[in-house]
Amino acid sequence: MPLSLAERAVQVLTTADGRAKCALSRAHAADWFAARAAGTPLPIGKATPPDAPARPARPELLDPRDVPRRRPGSPTGRIALLHAVAHIELNAVDLHWDIIARFTDQPMPLGFYDDWVKAADEESKHFNLMADCLEALGSHYGAMPAHAGMWRAAADTAADLHGRLAVVPMVLEARGLDVTPGMIDLFRKAGESGPVEALEVIYAEEVGHVAYGSKWFNWLCGRDGSDPKEVFHRLVRHYFHGTLKPPFNEEKRADAGLPPDFYWPLTEDQDSVA
Ligand SMILES: [Fe+2]
Ligand SMILES: [Fe+2]
Repeated sequence: MPLSLAERAVQVLTTADGRAKCALSRAHAADWFAARAAGTPLPIGKATPPDAPARPARPELLDPRDVPRRRPGSPTGRIALLHAVAHIELNAVDLHWDIIARFTDQPMPLGFYDDWVKAADEESKHFNLMADCLEALGSHYGAMPAHAGMWRAAADTAADLHGRLAVVPMVLEARGLDVTPGMIDLFRKAGESGPVEALEVIYAEEVGHVAYGSKWFNWLCGRDGSDPKEVFHRLVRHYFHGTLKPPFNEEKRADAGLPPDFYWPLTEDQDSVA
């Protein structure tokens, strides 16, 4: 009996080292898609994902208020930016394997697993790209402190698949679509083509992850007979701390199936809306 997809997900989540986590993630994704192509899908299975994923000893994880701010225009500032993106990508690898392992009690079509395995594979590539860029600039992932609390959204939505999809792909990953063009510009102006190329790969593939989120969120609401927009507003207000911040990348959000009436109402406090 091959190892189930859920057990493989837990293996990734419990691997601490970034490069090792991503290598395992990519190997499991290749196995999943090879089995799918052969018409003999791996069993989804059941497993108990850890409350939080394993993390390497470095970077030191600090409260966001304590992470030193650096000018983005300086060489150190640009390295710090790549380091922050590497940290986000590593967290994203775990987020996608976690959604695979955590909600197996709900019957979902195989396409749900196809999408999140593909997203996890892409995040693993993204982490490797950012780690390569850092190393090319004489640094490495772990060389500077990073934000603690990245797992909060996952912990808050550990018992709610609708909530997980609303907050992680449809709010947090959608935010990545808003800010990545500015980052690409910054590296382009600095004449650093390696980070420009890597961030362009990330930007293109992240549209897909947001699209998977809205696709499966709408699918679940369709199965329940509920109004996706109303459910989205309720869940984001419940699980997400703070309001959404414009400017939004309306075009890429539209490509990802996120219409303006999903996110614009969430730019205001609930109190001022009510
Ligand atoms: Fe990514
Ligand atoms: Fe992503």
